Amino acid sequence: MSLKITVRAVQPIKETADVIAIGVFSNFASKAKTSKTPKSPLDGFDRALGGALLKQMRKENFKGKKDQVLSIATLGKVNASRVVVFGLGDETTLSDADVRMFAAKAAKAALAEKGKRLVLGLPHGLASRLRYVAEGVELGAYRFTKYFTGDRAPKATLNSVTITTLETLLPVAKSDIENGQAVAAGVNLARDLSNEPPNVIFPATLAAAAVAMGKEKGLKVQVFDFKQVVAKGMKLLQAVGQGSENKPHLVHLSYIPPRVVGKKNPKRLVFVGKGVTFDSGGLSIKPAAGMGEMKHDMSGAANVIGLMSAVGALKPNIEVHAVLAAAENMPDGSAYRPGDIWGSLDGKTVEIVNTDAEGRLILADALAYARELKPDLMVDNATLTGACVVALGNTCSGFYASNEETASEFGSALKESGEQMWRMPILEELRDQLKSDCADLKHTGDRWGGSITAAIFLREFIGETKNWIHADIAGPAMADRASGWSPKGATGHGVLTFLSLVERAEKAAKTV
Ligand code: BES
Ligand code: MN
Ligand code: ZN
Repeated sequence: MSLKITVRAVQPIKETADVIAIGVFSNFASKAKTSKTPKSPLDGFDRALGGALLKQMRKENFKGKKDQVLSIATLGKVNASRVVVFGLGDETTLSDADVRMFAAKAAKAALAEKGKRLVLGLPHGLASRLRYVAEGVELGAYRFTKYFTGDRAPKATLNSVTITTLETLLPVAKSDIENGQAVAAGVNLARDLSNEPPNVIFPATLAAAAVAMGKEKGLKVQVFDFKQVVAKGMKLLQAVGQGSENKPHLVHLSYIPPRVVGKKNPKRLVFVGKGVTFDSGGLSIKPAAGMGEMKHDMSGAANVIGLMSAVGALKPNIEVHAVLAAAENMPDGSAYRPGDIWGSLDGKTVEIVNTDAEGRLILADALAYARELKPDLMVDNATLTGACVVALGNTCSGFYASNEETASEFGSALKESGEQMWRMPILEELRDQLKSDCADLKHTGDRWGGSITAAIFLREFIGETKNWIHADIAGPAMADRASGWSPKGATGHGVLTFLSLVERAEKAAKTV
């Protein structure tokens, strides 16, 4: 459910809310007041609070520096029970991601106060960035509360946000806010799908969720059920998924804008996601502790569904596809085994070493399917290896790029999104670890460099695709505590970066 977001050119002190959140730059206090000084969203608050605001600012040494927050109870002296002032730092370096973060924190402050209504006072200079404000409040307000009943069911919660600006409203203000809400809805859809328990989201229901989203957004959706997966020759997806009652599916979502239909060489982006709806490890079973977290092992697939939802709403003039491979990795009489040799959609044969390295297997078939779309850029994302989490921790993903240009383009998208992914090297000397005595390839190597050998394995299946990115999101896809614009649990990490890639590619296509 999305928030009711409106924008008004008004001083925030004039508004009524549960919480009034105000953003100020680090120079907010130093500007000498003259008749020409632009209005500040703080105007009127100190007087209304009997001087308590400035006093508190001095006490806490609040200078409006980035990440500084000052929160003050109004005791009824203002038409809100709490005023929270957020430092935004230097105006000249404030990024769109910073704007999003400020708005997300404001929404969280309102939730913490059990507020239903938030007023968000923007300082001068942000009138053109309403999309990111809207993204931020929607992302910050996200909660997964579906399964709480009785006392634990959420009471009325944050439902309306009024953004106030001291500038003239731009004609695009309304559509900027709508676009921001559509983007956040995509990220929040990815979070919802990943947070759902594995008895609710399994391959067939994940496919159904993709179909429902596609229908709503007018996308083309093709679903290959188990029979078709087998018939098509996706043997690795079959192998991983056949040990479960919930048989594997492959889903292909397409967004083809009207103006591109029939054109010979459209720019085409293809995103691929790992959708292991539950990863028990299979016969190479995982230890009990933490196994429940493996319901999030379909976050890569959830991300591409969320991404396509945003793409379907923003309607860029560029072709975007998503391919997701969905399987449940379970031990069973019909489960695949260590020692098995399986073919693949690509044709290469693979010796199975460890059934817990299932992600790269289903991705191999998904990549071999996706490459047939002849992408100008192919991006896969997957909660692929614990090794990547060891390398980079829980807040930063690892990404691999097939060439420098693609790496640099992905890096620019990351800068825009504010998400953290660090480039990892594809070390050719590790390729030998995947040599098998009885098949074309083994799917795992040694323990050391485990994220890299996974990437090298995937590369075997991209065919002629020149521009390829593999993002190992195993760490940041889920969080054990809330931070920034992310909640606890599924984060949707990746969606914003992929959307940046799409929008950058659209802009680039326009200029040629
Ligand atoms: N889904 C896991 C990776 C994972 C670990 C995701 C922790 C999120 C948090 C993946 O399928 C897996 O089990 N990988 C193995 C590979 C190994 C057997 C080569 C791993 O990382 O231990
Ligand atoms: Mn696994
Ligand atoms: Zn897995």
